[in-house]
Amino acid sequence: MAAAGVSSTRTLRTLRTVRILLSPLRAPIPNRTGPLRLLSSLPPPGTWTSELSRLPHRDLHRLSVTDPDQFWGAAAADRLRWMKPFERVQDCDLNRGKINWFPGGRINVSVNCLDVHVETHPDRAALIWERDEPGTEVRVTYRELLEMTCRLANTLKAHGVQKGDRVAVYLPTSPLAVAAMLACARIGAVHTVVFAGFSAEALAGRIQDAECKVVLTCDETVRGGRSVPLKATVDAAVRSCPSVRHVLVSRRTDGGATAAAVGPLDVPLEEAMKAAAPVCPAEALDSEDPLFLLYTSGSTGRPKGLVHSQAGYLLYTSLTHQYVFDHRDGDVFGCVADIGWITGHSYVVYGPLCNGATTVLFESTPVYPNPGRYWEMVQRLRVSQFYGAPTALRLLLSYDDSWVKKYDRSSLRTLGSVGEPINHEAWHWFHDVVGEGRCPLVDTWWQTETGGICIAPRPAEEGAPVVPAMAMRPFFGIEPVLMGEQGQPLSGQSVDGALCLARPWPGMARSIFRDHQRFIETYFTPYPGCYFTGDGAWRSEDGFYQITGRMDDVINVSGHRLGTAEVEDALDEHPAVPESAVVGFPHPIKGEVPFAFVVLKDDLGSPPAVLRQLRELVATKIAKYAVPEHFLVVERLPKTRSGKIMRRVLRKVATEATGDLGDLSTLDDPSVVQEIIQAHRRYREQHRKS
Ligand code: WT7
Repeated sequence: MAAAGVSSTRTLRTLRTVRILLSPLRAPIPNRTGPLRLLSSLPPPGTWTSELSRLPHRDLHRLSVTDPDQFWGAAAADRLRWMKPFERVQDCDLNRGKINWFPGGRINVSVNCLDVHVETHPDRAALIWERDEPGTEVRVTYRELLEMTCRLANTLKAHGVQKGDRVAVYLPTSPLAVAAMLACARIGAVHTVVFAGFSAEALAGRIQDAECKVVLTCDETVRGGRSVPLKATVDAAVRSCPSVRHVLVSRRTDGGATAAAVGPLDVPLEEAMKAAAPVCPAEALDSEDPLFLLYTSGSTGRPKGLVHSQAGYLLYTSLTHQYVFDHRDGDVFGCVADIGWITGHSYVVYGPLCNGATTVLFESTPVYPNPGRYWEMVQRLRVSQFYGAPTALRLLLSYDDSWVKKYDRSSLRTLGSVGEPINHEAWHWFHDVVGEGRCPLVDTWWQTETGGICIAPRPAEEGAPVVPAMAMRPFFGIEPVLMGEQGQPLSGQSVDGALCLARPWPGMARSIFRDHQRFIETYFTPYPGCYFTGDGAWRSEDGFYQITGRMDDVINVSGHRLGTAEVEDALDEHPAVPESAVVGFPHPIKGEVPFAFVVLKDDLGSPPAVLRQLRELVATKIAKYAVPEHFLVVERLPKTRSGKIMRRVLRKVATEATGDLGDLSTLDDPSVVQEIIQAHRRYREQHRKS
């Protein structure tokens, strides 16, 4: 077998070697020569399930980190259909941000998600579109989804989209959105899905950065009974996007004033798809050709377009989907995330479809038409796995439990939580009330950048402990390392530090679109040789991991990731605001909300009027969820002598934790702090009165 080298710093290599020596395999790995031979001549499908998957999980995990080439090579050869076999398993160097999995291989993701299943179960539902109005769900079989995808792929081609071109998708979670993603995958175009809650300016920023040729949208969507005019937002966005040649518009609703607005770029999508051929040959793509871009917030600058590629991403999402959720044939997988986020990409679309599952597309809200919506859906669709966000659970647990109990949840086998820390109350309510204490609950930690779940309680040995509200165990191929303040790896248990992942895994992002340098600096420079997650974590006495939260200026609002710098940029555009600082502030349901400290020029309008305009400004520049819940007008901000705003002091003021403000010696003028504390007191008193 070609020894695919993973270079890393000497420290890490030593660390790894020491670790491995310290924890020898408890049982010898059987079939050692079996899977090793796979790479010279690829085995027939089925080897993964028949050989490797019979190993106990502990040994599988051990194999995945002691001999990743054997593990991933066998998994990739067996689980995916290749158009040309890969020549090596990996060629990665994290120091340089070089990530290359399955070089030499050629593959098509849409073939793996559709054609292979049409061969064996064409009439199985691939999608159940749980539309806004309960009881109006639509099933789409694998055969139908393949045809829809091909017609859409041919339509894209007819409108000039070629391999490598970017296509923006601004659609609600719907079969059309899934077909759009897979149609791009079929012809080698690169989709960038933009969450349909983003404003015109936020959409335009993404289209411009990605230089999209085509935008796919619909007239309007309906959410929680209310109409959302998507086409109007696209019209406003594309005015400043010279790269866009066509806007393909689907009719989601009948009528609606927006449907009539036909501009020079518009193409009626249904007509175009009807005219297109129902079969489209699949492009044989390189393992590392880009599959999609997904924009996400960082601690500085504008949102960055993370690049995910073909084979490794698909393998990783399908493997995690199967093992973390215990997916079995015939299951109905219910991930209620929007396709505009990575959770929707990996666990509504790619992972489940690669595994031939039936996946639910949830278009509504947790409280429409009432707080029983999720559980009524579970009963009606016989959902086997329910995967959702803690923010929704916190909202639902405030209602009476009868909203859960009146529906039959006996179909549920696994519960999952994602996106933010799950507090004990929400964990217990989900586990005990929703799951009746009989379904394992997986708190899954991962990120847009990681492509798929990296730390979760599963897979685990039969009878292994599960600790409430703890992500716990690394997935196959993942090696967490906690780093101390001096950048040194922390050994032993009961420690907390910066969470890094010490070796590459197939699902990780490959770059930031057109800014590989930023990719290296953000993720691989802070701890050379390792991927830095931006999160802190704690390792318990038992060696389990618990995520402690972001270590940078990224906050999490209702599970939506938001850079406080983005909000500040929006606020600072107002002529009355010379500067502002935004921090995260705890909120019982949303997790965190933005808290803005703003300096106002006093000659430019009354503060209440300006604050109204500021709210409006953030909603139009970013999205509604980014609007600060609190505004505190201050005369000055606390700054260091080098001019940096000391946000940690502001966080303490906002939460009234001013007993220990930490080291203020680098502040230019420490008296600012008392000034702000006073202003905050007055603000609190006013709030209490109103
Ligand atoms: C950030 C990533 C994971 C896909 C959806 C969000 C936080 C995510 C957990 C969890 C505690 C979590 C982290 C992470 N996060 N999952 N189980 N426990 N925190 O992806 O928008 O890229 O956000 O969400 O802070 O860095 P994302």
